[in-house]
Amino acid sequence: MKFRVRPMTLVCAVILLGALVAVAFLLPGTLESGRVLERERNATPTPTAEIASMLAVTIDPNNTPSPTPVLLKTGTEGDEVRRLQQRLKDLQYYNGEVDGQYGQATAEAVRVFQAQHGLEADGLAGQNTLSALYADTAQVCIPTPSPSPTPGLLSRGDEGEAVLALQTRLQELGFYTGKLDGDFGGGTENAVRSFQRQHELDVDGMVAEKTNAVLFSDQAQTLIPTPTPDPNALPLLVNAEHPVGQDYRPDNLVLLRNALPSSLVTVKGSEIEGDATAAAALEEMFAAAVEDGVTGWQISAGYRSYAYQQQLFDEKVASYRSEGFSQANAVSATRQTVAEPGTSEHHTGLAFDITVAGVSFKGTEQQIWLHEHCWDYGFIVRYQEDKEDITGFLAECWHIRYVGLPHSTAMRDANQCLEEYLGAV
Ligand code: DAL
Ligand code: ZN
Repeated sequence: MKFRVRPMTLVCAVILLGALVAVAFLLPGTLESGRVLERERNATPTPTAEIASMLAVTIDPNNTPSPTPVLLKTGTEGDEVRRLQQRLKDLQYYNGEVDGQYGQATAEAVRVFQAQHGLEADGLAGQNTLSALYADTAQVCIPTPSPSPTPGLLSRGDEGEAVLALQTRLQELGFYTGKLDGDFGGGTENAVRSFQRQHELDVDGMVAEKTNAVLFSDQAQTLIPTPTPDPNALPLLVNAEHPVGQDYRPDNLVLLRNALPSSLVTVKGSEIEGDATAAAALEEMFAAAVEDGVTGWQISAGYRSYAYQQQLFDEKVASYRSEGFSQANAVSATRQTVAEPGTSEHHTGLAFDITVAGVSFKGTEQQIWLHEHCWDYGFIVRYQEDKEDITGFLAECWHIRYVGLPHSTAMRDANQCLEEYLGAV
């Protein structure tokens, strides 16, 4: 069979060949024509395989765009970040999660790594940083002490640059709202206390080594405002009809010696704990009392465990027994003043015995002030004479209970004890 080429096909083939030859000759390796080509390439649909391969050999390799350099930075996510975090962790720069998210902690670890390796400490992981990081010569983190404005202790009465730096830092974190005057006064002390409380440091209002280290480190948090108690949430009732279990322990307890300034109140035992919100209300209340000129306050009791209440109860029974009471009479006499374990409000961490050292509290100026003002700070005088039938306890002028506002003032105004207020009579 004869193979016949149609004239039209021949014409097309010649044109195509001509075009290809022309393209090959016209493709120079200069930058300018490279740019033209680039424009054309962008302006035309994907070239055929032949044209594409021709372009590949013709373009000057020096003009080929280099691959995008790797830059990992805050906000980057993925496996490269995961690998970076793992490496930083292995070298002890990073102790966060290896989660592939380049956040503040990762950036800080990169910064420390860079500083230790003579690189620009910008927290960005670019080519240089990554090469140094994955090199065999990469060093393990050598911890450096946190920067501190001044070594030593800062406390009330101090003045100067170091105090100014302290106030500035506390203001930055939202703890200090006063003047930046370099004067360590009451406002600065309160700010230090709130900072210490939030960071679970010893609350003494002074800036020694530990507080200073946390304050000027990345661990320093911004102020978390104390949540305003929900006024619709009803106060907790603990009494003989509403006991707590043997293992009950509130989860918001703080050591009162740490939480309250000794300039306002003496906490009789170093172990005495109380609910954190109630402790803040106590501080506010005693500050107001001292402002009114009423001082000399003491806290004799706060949170009590079931076991400790049992001990108090047993001791009281034993003391009645030693006076000649029968066991039954000793127990019923004890029940009038000491709650049976599980039924004491002290288990809540919300009840406190307020006293004055060395004297009977009843009739003191402190007792009078307390009964007049405690309501305004969320406290109630829990066991009063005219409510003994309801509460089941003889009146205790020293025992106050935190219920929060507006419950405390509502109970005062309606002359209701907690059982009445809660309709639990
Ligand atoms: N003294 C009070 C009632 C208590 O023991 O809880
Ligand atoms: Zn009490």
